[in-house]
Formats: sequence, structure tokens, C-alpha cells
Amino acid sequence: MSERTRNYNYSRKTLTNNWEYRLKSLLRRCGSTRFAGSLVLVGLCSFLALLIFAYQPMAQTREQPSPSVAQAATTDSELSASPAVLPPLPYAYDALEPYIDAETMELHHDRHHATYVENFNEALANYPDLQNQTVEAMLRDLDNVPEDIREKVRNNGGGHVNHTMFWEIMSPDGGGEPTGAIAEAINQSFGSFAQFQEEFEQAGKDRFGSGWVWLVSNDANELEITTTPNQDTPIMDGQYPIMGNDVWEHAYYLNYRNNRGEYLSNWWNVVNWDEVNRRFEQAQS
Ligand SMILES: [Fe+2]
Repeated sequence: MSERTRNYNYSRKTLTNNWEYRLKSLLRRCGSTRFAGSLVLVGLCSFLALLIFAYQPMAQTREQPSPSVAQAATTDSELSASPAVLPPLPYAYDALEPYIDAETMELHHDRHHATYVENFNEALANYPDLQNQTVEAMLRDLDNVPEDIREKVRNNGGGHVNHTMFWEIMSPDGGGEPTGAIAEAINQSFGSFAQFQEEFEQAGKDRFGSGWVWLVSNDANELEITTTPNQDTPIMDGQYPIMGNDVWEHAYYLNYRNNRGEYLSNWWNVVNWDEVNRRFEQAQS
């Protein structure tokens, strides 16, 4: 073989090896690209599936408020415990001024009442069976509430029930003399509205420490003025609270300081007698 032929064969071989290398490299690259492409496609499909899955419950939540929200907003029903829900204040924070100031209302509703609801739900977290009862049912039968959460249910469940009533029996259009059936019942039971006011205010002033003053329908189905300490409710004693005033300092201290008596006498200006009448009718049924 001549030198020229040998060189020619060597160059062909080198060229062939070069092309083989390039081809193999291209195929390898194609393979990697296809694999990467497949990965991206699978990832995209999974993301879309997750998005559809997450959207469905969100859409349901927007369209349909949970039963507990609906129940909390309905004053005819007892309050749900699955979970308990803070009802919205039925008027603006400053709606009851000058008798109750906006800051007090905001703190009272958004902090104090909200905390009772939060603590109540926390207490029931490990007792799903209890959540099927209403808050009122638990308070009527506290002995059947497990001992380790009984005090929390009493204080926070009571706080939730008491305050839910409290917002409803006040109104910026309230005040004045009572109307309807409750006006007649007050006159029959106390002689006059003025006499009832005096006794109610005195009972509120005499309640030592924090608590509530109430007009209840008692065991004999008669009107009676009572008081309870802390967040205890007349429901615990088998009575029906027709109306009640909160005499905790958080209800009046910013505006009235330690003058609970002045708060009690001004409070009549915001009493919603329509709602008190509705509750009185409910007590009779
Ligand atoms: Fe309160």
C-alpha cells in the first residue's frame, strides 16, 4: 500500500469516527430532551389537577356559607358548636354612641367575644361527639361535659351565648319605653317600667365583680330580675334570659371608668325592644 493510499484510508476512518461520535451524541441529547420534556409535561398535568382539586372546595365555600355561620346569624336557633362562630356585629362600632363608644364596641366584640369563641372551640377539639350538641344544650347539662373541659365550656360557651344575645338586644334605633307584650308583662310584674328600671339597675350595681344582670323567665314562667357571676348564664339554671346587661368592666370602662351606675342608666337608650319582645315570645313558647 502506497503512502498516499494509507493516508487516505486514515483520514476516512477518522472522518467516519467523527460522524459516529456526533450522531451518537445527538441521539443521546435527543433522548435526554425527550425525557426532560416528558418530566415537564407530567409536572404540568399534576399542577393542573391540583388546581382543579383545590378550586372545587373553594368554590363551594364561597357559594354556600357553612351551616354554623348561618346558624350563628339566626337568633331563632341555638348556637352551633361545630364549630362555634363569632356572629357579625349587626351595626357599626360607633352606632351606639354616645352611650357606648366605638372603641369599646370594637374591643368587646372583636377581641373579648372572639376569644370566648376561640377558646370554646379549642376546648372541644378533642371531643367531636360534643360538637353535635348546641352550646346552650351543653350549658343546660354541664355535668355531662367531661370534667377536664367543663370549666372552659362554662366560661367560654357562656360568654359566646351571652354576648350573641347582647349585640342583638341593642340597636341604634333602640331606647324609649318598652313596647308590645313585654311592656305589659313588665307593668304587671314590677308595677311600672320606672320601677323595673330601678330594680334592674340596682341589681347590676350590686353584682360584685364581673357578671351580668338579667330579666329572665323563671321556672314558674314569671318575670324575675337576677344576676350571674362571670359568664354564667341563666340557661344553666333552667331559666330563659329575655334580656341582660353586661356589667364586666370591659363593657363600659373606657367611657364610664368605674361609674357602673351611669353606664347602667344610659344603657336604656340603646335597648332594642323589638328583639326583647321576640325573646319574650320565645320564652312563652
Ligand atoms: Fe362582655
